[in-house]
Amino acid sequence: MSKLIPVRLGPRSYAIHLGAGLLEALGPLARESVRGRNGLVVSDGHVQPLYGARAADSLRSAGFTVSAAVVPPGEASKSSAQLLALYDATLRAGLDRSGCIVALGGGVVGDLAGFLAATYLRGVALVQVPTTLLAMVDSSVGGKTGINLPAGKNLVGAFHQPALVVADINTLRTLPDREVRAGLAAVVKVGAIRDAVLFQTLESAAGGLARPWKTRTAAERDRMEEIIARGCEIKAEIVAGDEREESGLRALLNFGHTFGHAVEQVAGYGTYLHGEAVAIGMAFAARLSARLAGLPPAEADRLIGLLRGLGLPVAAQGLAWPELRAAMGVDKKAQAHAPRFVLLGRLGAAVAGCAVPEADLEAAFRSVNPKSE
Ligand SMILES: NC(=O)c1ccc[n+]([C@@H]2O[C@H](COP(=O)([O-])OP(=O)(O)OC[C@H]3O[C@@H](n4cnc5c(N)ncnc54)[C@H](O)[C@@H]3O)[C@@H](O)[C@H]2O)c1
Repeated sequence: MSKLIPVRLGPRSYAIHLGAGLLEALGPLARESVRGRNGLVVSDGHVQPLYGARAADSLRSAGFTVSAAVVPPGEASKSSAQLLALYDATLRAGLDRSGCIVALGGGVVGDLAGFLAATYLRGVALVQVPTTLLAMVDSSVGGKTGINLPAGKNLVGAFHQPALVVADINTLRTLPDREVRAGLAAVVKVGAIRDAVLFQTLESAAGGLARPWKTRTAAERDRMEEIIARGCEIKAEIVAGDEREESGLRALLNFGHTFGHAVEQVAGYGTYLHGEAVAIGMAFAARLSARLAGLPPAEADRLIGLLRGLGLPVAAQGLAWPELRAAMGVDKKAQAHAPRFVLLGRLGAAVAGCAVPEADLEAAFRSVNPKSE
């Protein structure tokens, strides 16, 4: 059974289709959502051999002319060099303004191919086909696209909503367990900021969710699908309420990011997966929230306990506070070196843009990293 989750954005509205086996339906769904019949499928070196042929076959049988472009797996591909190579591939594929880019992969492919679609010929249609849990519940929905610069992550980008999102949860069977756990951090995030019921569901399902995909029962897999669907719904509601991050609502999705980005940077990109770094950032923000935003300490403990229960890290092992503090000053969302945080008043309710006294920053760090420098 597949689910359809609407993203309501007036003339830019679209549907998220979520379910098992949906890759086979990609072509017919795309035919209803995009104008032209020429598509470039962008994927990475892990995903293309697993799902590239199935996606292309489905598109071809629905009448599309299909070309493929493959980038190396990993964050380093969100680069200007890969983007330039993709512009060439798009030209070679003969895409005109009615053509479409199909992003088949995780958040890296989604952000990179999304930015390609946003900028090639001043914008062509984009179909997101997320194959990681993080991409399904977070990056494929909402239209944020972009690449990294040597100076930092996501520094160049554009808002470009997809015309369609097709998430085949069967693709998660081949996703490494560590990546599945990192994706669960994105679901914990939306529960913590917006939905205490989802948070409780995650707490009660944590044992099954943390187990390797192959050893899960059918009921646990169904539960996973429900959890992904709820995560998508929350993301869709937030995006519909604040498409361009202007009112503060969408900024709530940055929960855990201020400290998480600093951890990614100081540890060296690639040491922690994005979702793992966000988990560490959420544990930090939970302690700050208990100090400053009225979050009951027991609820901060529940958040940290859930992250641990899902097999996620909650502390930045071996990283020193002065470097982490300095890295928070250069976050692109920091205003004049004073980092801003999303804090929780309670589980399910968050506030964005909170300035935090220096002493509380360090105290929160010490409370989750008692042995650090
Ligand atoms: N645009 C947004 O709103 C948004 C939101 C959150 C994160 N992001 C971005 O998302 C990126 C992280 O995304 P990610 O965690 O999906 O990482 P990713 O795209 O690097 O994928 C993780 C790994 O899994 C592999 N993979 C993907 N699907 C697979 C499958 N089904 N089977 C086997 N292997 C598979 C990939 O090749 C890669 O090695 C970051 O660049 C982050 O900045 C963007």
